[in-house]
Amino acid sequence: MKAIIGGTGIDRDGRFYENTVSKVNRYGEVIYSIKDDIVYLPRHRPGHSLPPHRINYRANIAELRSLGVTDVISIYAVGSITKLIAPTRFGLIKDFIDFAFGRENTFYDGTEGAVRHVPMVDAFDRELSAAFMAVSMMRGYSIPSNAVYVTTNGPRFETAAEIEAFRRIGGDVVGMTLGTEAALLREAGIRNAAVAYSINWAAGLDAEGMAFMEGESIMKLVDILISMAEDTLSRF
Ligand code: HPA
Repeated sequence: MKAIIGGTGIDRDGRFYENTVSKVNRYGEVIYSIKDDIVYLPRHRPGHSLPPHRINYRANIAELRSLGVTDVISIYAVGSITKLIAPTRFGLIKDFIDFAFGRENTFYDGTEGAVRHVPMVDAFDRELSAAFMAVSMMRGYSIPSNAVYVTTNGPRFETAAEIEAFRRIGGDVVGMTLGTEAALLREAGIRNAAVAYSINWAAGLDAEGMAFMEGESIMKLVDILISMAEDTLSRF
């Protein structure tokens, strides 16, 4: 079984909120749908009712694990810190820096009887990422595959000084969810390729203040990304 985890924008796509089932596991409730052997998991829940710091990441990933999911394409709306993935563009994440705090962010907190320190070098699967890249190229998109994602806790956006600091330490894009989710997927031994699409210039980088892509253009982009993710997973 394969899965697509979607976030902001994507949870307005029917595949993520129609025919959903609700399951409760030891970490809490998860809502998802399954179609043609792909699990569609809206991380903020259908209708975007959970802010990033309140998402039950462990319940989500534990559920994928128990469904027997081996491969995930995770999709993230982000703000651009550098031009690598400019607003309206998308690309693959190669690494992340995690500034989130106060979240249940591990399966190895001692309560399952084990303490383990799981390596985060190569947190994203090279072959799955390359497969997504190949599908993008076939559709005429040339995309970067080396973006660094900085995870903030949110739900507030960053200050301009924070974004300048993130740029100096090597961040390309900023968002509020990937660090927590990618680490848990790695702990769960699920292959993951992360795709980020930018909907704005991060704080302080746009003379107009913070301006976001229109909902309709986001939906068009999201549609392309889901279809490429499905294509990638079906070939993998
Ligand atoms: N900051 C944090 N998260 C985001 C942003 C941003 O600018 N844009 C989309 N998600």
